[in-house]
Amino acid sequence: MAVAQGTTTKTFLNQQVANYGLFYTKLHQLHWYVKGHNFFTLHVKFEELYDQTTAILDELAERLLQINGEPYSTLQEFLEHASLKEKPYTNPMTELEMVQVAVDDLVQLRDELAEGIVLSDNEGDAVTNDMLIAVKNKLDKEIWFYTAFLGKDPVPQNNPK
Ligand SMILES: [Fe+2]
Repeated sequence: MAVAQGTTTKTFLNQQVANYGLFYTKLHQLHWYVKGHNFFTLHVKFEELYDQTTAILDELAERLLQINGEPYSTLQEFLEHASLKEKPYTNPMTELEMVQVAVDDLVQLRDELAEGIVLSDNEGDAVTNDMLIAVKNKLDKEIWFYTAFLGKDPVPQNNPK
């Protein structure tokens, strides 16, 4: 389980602010460095995904402010608190390996969202709960798109404990 014991809706939202902040940059790496026969498709798709990611980041941070939280707002905080990992682009990756990087991160984000949905439900925060379900619907769709591109089935959800 990626979400730590004792996590509340507020701390969950902030960890996700860090995650989406990091993912936004990581997707630029894929957008910039992708090479191959699918360049035109993937260059555009990674851009669409980072645009969606920054919209989600903003929504999560603003919901956190509405419930008296304090969203992380620096790159250093994002790095310290994100559960996603990044690395410099030092070794060339194939375009399919890049898509797999995006899928792996989307799956992790989606599985963490499933935990946040349970948390916010248990706390009776219906608005955050509804927002997280909507975000999860978007990520489920992206996972389907990118796994279909790889010729695979969508990755099943790791259900929250
Ligand atoms: Fe660009």
